[in-house]
Amino acid sequence: MVKRLLIAANWKMNPPPEGSLLPASPYLEHAAVDVIVLPGHLDLERCIAARLITGGQYGHPEPKGAHTGDVSIQMLARLGCRYVLCGHSERRRDHHESSAFVMEQVVAALEANIHPILCVGETLEEREAGKEHEVVKHQLKGLPEHGEITIAYEPVWAIGTGKTATPQQAQAMHAFIRPLLPKDLHAATRILYGGSMNKDNAEALLLRPDIDGGLIGGASLKPEEFAAIVKIAEGITKK
Ligand code: 13P
Repeated sequence: MVKRLLIAANWKMNPPPEGSLLPASPYLEHAAVDVIVLPGHLDLERCIAARLITGGQYGHPEPKGAHTGDVSIQMLARLGCRYVLCGHSERRRDHHESSAFVMEQVVAALEANIHPILCVGETLEEREAGKEHEVVKHQLKGLPEHGEITIAYEPVWAIGTGKTATPQQAQAMHAFIRPLLPKDLHAATRILYGGSMNKDNAEALLLRPDIDGGLIGGASLKPEEFAAIVKIAEGITKK
């Protein structure tokens, strides 16, 4: 089986980059690689209208109710989102999302028929204490046995710092994660790397056997740089 790489643009709390909604957008679906955008909630609708494959950066697992300011995964699905990020480290940090709550989001996404991208990753302190495997294993606890998901390994110390995990460090963690996934899913599940990925380091990372794509923050806000990363991914085939 040939696995298509997935390159995801996480725009975080930023407006869509210039030209991203135009007919020649570099963020559009590509023939040989899956390209998706994760805009802020207020920009979701126009990204979908511009025919981008779109996902939410967060969704509440309950379909509706008294959660002022929140948006539910079901609402995202109804709007036409195809993906949703679950448990990005910035959400875990800023909104105190626990791993159990994040897993509720994964389950809710599968029930709503949208594809969850579960984010995991350790802090610098945890890595320095040699606890990175323990932390990531805990974050994967309770994964549903069935249903298509994507995992994004994003070491917190590499996010927005310009300090990327080396291809060896990332590959080692991805190889640790894969056997922890439900048995009938582990070969087919894509495990993305995220954390200061850019056009200069993307190739070395994406060539590693267990790195099936990238979740890109800062570099995804620069259309030319993002296009360069997609082009690199197009040149790589994974079995
Ligand atoms: P950077 O690419 O800016 O390090 O962000 C990574 C990230 O958090 C993607 O979700």
